[in-house]
Parts: sequence; structure tokens; C-alpha cells
Amino acid sequence: MSYIEVRDLWKRFKKREAVRGISFQVERGEIFGFLGPNGAGKSTTISVLAGLLKPTAGDMSVAGYSIAGNPMEVKRCIGLVPQDIALYPKLSARDNLRFWGSMYGISRLELQRRVKEVLELVGLSERGAEPINNYSGGMKRRINIAAGLLHQPELLILDEPTVGVDPQTRSRIFEIIRHLNQDGTTVIYTSHYMEEVELLCDKVTIIDEGQIVASGTKEELLRQVGGKQEITLTVPFINESLYQQLKSIPHVQQVKAMEEQVDILTDQADTILTSVLGNFINAGVPVSKIEIKKPNLETLFMKMTGRTLRD
Ligand SMILES: Nc1ncnc2c1ncn2[C@@H]1O[C@H](COP(=O)(O)OP(=O)(O)OP(=O)(O)O)[C@@H](O)[C@H]1O
Ligand SMILES: [Mg+2]
Repeated sequence: MSYIEVRDLWKRFKKREAVRGISFQVERGEIFGFLGPNGAGKSTTISVLAGLLKPTAGDMSVAGYSIAGNPMEVKRCIGLVPQDIALYPKLSARDNLRFWGSMYGISRLELQRRVKEVLELVGLSERGAEPINNYSGGMKRRINIAAGLLHQPELLILDEPTVGVDPQTRSRIFEIIRHLNQDGTTVIYTSHYMEEVELLCDKVTIIDEGQIVASGTKEELLRQVGGKQEITLTVPFINESLYQQLKSIPHVQQVKAMEEQVDILTDQADTILTSVLGNFINAGVPVSKIEIKKPNLETLFMKMTGRTLRD
């Protein structure tokens, strides 16, 4: 039995099926990536796992404890870093952490030590006395992470922890996650950034519209798109007839037209490039940039759903 087992999980909100039969496993010590576009059902799945929402059907277990049968044991294992920042703006970072720590039932003395440790870990010891109001977005994100670590959880679940942060804070957050993982913490990392998941995670599950689209190690997933390439063209516009012409070029497998960008999925980028460009020239649409990309998880998502992750 795996460290985390999710079996045929369903979650319905009134008429909306947010999660429709999801199953996956995570082994102890892994960094597990949960990748999907807006509204895919990532936060809902995580909220069920963390015991914040009751599933409509299905079961999950962590470290052998079923969430239905032993919710308290499961909660004790998990540190959740929610997507929305859960901090009191007028309180200092330290007081925020004390508040969250007391919610976990940590004793006063222990809490004092832990608050100091987690502040050091996220690199904000110096600023701990200041109210959250004074913090930058990236600093708030780091305190949000610190709050999830107070009770030394063996499983850390982060829900899009890098939204709205600068690249420097992002690498800092990645360092923190890697450090915790090296110390034995299992990590579930949710994101709609394919690059992040590729960089950080051992195993990845891609979800869309409440269902699993693909799942495996990065290597296994990339093998599924092996040989596929993506041609990306930057253009001012594209019309229906040009779109249809591109789709009918041999070896073109998918065409995705967005505002000012066209993505073409193919297994023969070099051979079709001239005819792709020819179509744009004939249609009188100037191309300002062309890029040929190696297959990545974004390519896989496009192959499986016909859409891009950032729709
Ligand atoms: N409390 C709720 N009541 C009704 N519908 C909900 C609720 N929470 C989520 N949903 C719906 O369930 C679906 C999945 O939402 P969820 O928040 O799990 O997506 P997500 O993958 O986390 O997306 P994002 O990347 O935008 O955070 C969406 O259609 C959303 O509108
Ligand atoms: Mg979410």
C-alpha cells in the first residue's frame, strides 16, 4: 500500500461535478506534482485530502489512516499551505504563526521554538515583529508556507504557492521545498505552471475537468509525446480559413489559435515549416516570431485535451 492512496474520488458542489473519479498514489518521500488549468479540480482534491471538504464518493488514506475512519490522524500528518493567503494583516508575522500553532494544539514552549525555526527556514526572522500589512506579496507567501510547517508535518501540501511572486521568491520557495523534502517530508505540489512541475517533481498527475488526463514520472509522460514537437508562431491575428488550412497540412496533429499566438502540434516540425509559413504569407498574415519547442508536459496536455494549460 502506498503512503497516500486516493481511490475513485468524486466531489459534487450542487450541480457541478468538480472532481469525477480521481485515483492516484504517492510514495513516502516523493515530490508529487498536481498539474492542471484553472478549475481543473486541484484545490478541491487537496481540500478533501486535508479533511476540509467531505468527498461525495471515494476514499483516501494517508500513512495507512483512512480519511473517513481516522480524520484526526490524517490531519496531524498534513501541513496545508492554502492557495489563498490565510493571515491576519494587522498582526505581526510572529503572532500569526503563534495563532496557527495554537490551532494545531502545540504547547506554548514548543510553539515558541517552532515559530523561531520556521521563520528562519523561510528567511524572515529579521522581519517577524512587523505586521503582515508591511509585507510584500512574496513575503506573505513565505509566511503562509511557514504556517503550514509549525507542527512538523510529514506531508506538506502546497496549493499554487508561487502565484504572484517574482522569480527570486519562486526559487527561494523551491529551495525551501527541496530542503524539507531532503529531510524526509513528502510533498504534494499543485500548479498550473508546467515548468515548475517539471523542475521540482518526481511524479506528476495532470488533471483537467475533474479527471486525470495523464500520470507518471516525468520521463514516462514525456515518452507519451515522444517525437512530437510544437511550432509556436506569433501573429497579429488568424482567421477561420487560415486555421482550417493549417489543420489540413499533412503531419499537423493539432492547431491551437489564441490571441496573437498559434500553436501547432506535429511530428515533423522541420518538414512542414515551409508550408506552414507559406499559408501565413498567402493569407497576408505577417509572422513576427517562430519557435520550435521540444515536447514537454504542456505538449502532452495539448495532445490529450486539444487546449493549452493556460486557457
Ligand atoms: N465551494 C464551491 N462551490 C461550488 N463550486 C465550487 C466550489 N469550489 C470549487 N468549485 C468549482 O469546482 C471546480 C474545480 O475548482 P477547483 O478550485 O478545485 O479548481 P483548481 O484546479 O484549484 O483551479 P485553480 O487553478 O483556478 O485554483 C470549478 O469549476 C469551481 O468553480
Ligand atoms: Mg485551486
